[in-house]
Amino acid sequence: METVNILMVCLGNICRSPLAEGILAHKLPSTTFTVDSAATAAYHTGNHPDSRSIAVAAKYGIAINHQKARPFQKKDFQRFDRIYVMDRSNYNNLKALQPTDAEWEKVALLLGNEEVPDPYYGGTEGFEMVYQMIDVATDRIANKLLENDH
Ligand code: 4NP
Repeated sequence: METVNILMVCLGNICRSPLAEGILAHKLPSTTFTVDSAATAAYHTGNHPDSRSIAVAAKYGIAINHQKARPFQKKDFQRFDRIYVMDRSNYNNLKALQPTDAEWEKVALLLGNEEVPDPYYGGTEGFEMVYQMIDVATDRIANKLLENDH
């Protein structure tokens, strides 16, 4: 069976998308799914996730401390089958890379119509809220993927 490759994208790849990567990966068999994450900005390249993201993930039994931030590259439109962005700004940043129609069809907001807010400048409660939002969204995504018998 072919592997389905899923990419989570946010601005810095240190707060939201590392959580989305870790949480979704936890819900899918690694034999048939790969989950990665990337940034639309390169400032944190090579950094581990924000300690507040690491802590909230650990609270729910998910380890994301090994992850390292990397920038989104245009070839990711080819490498991945589905690309989930956290907010409309991420969405617009990817659109600005001028993907083909087929590439752009792979891109969606993780929450459908809602945004996952950037928790970076807030307190730890923002990270808890973001965790819960991503948890709900990834339940839906994982159920759908597993239903499709991938
Ligand atoms: P993320 O959060 O996009 O969820 O990783 C941010 C991380 C860093 C910055 C902004 C948002 N920053 O401005 O450095």
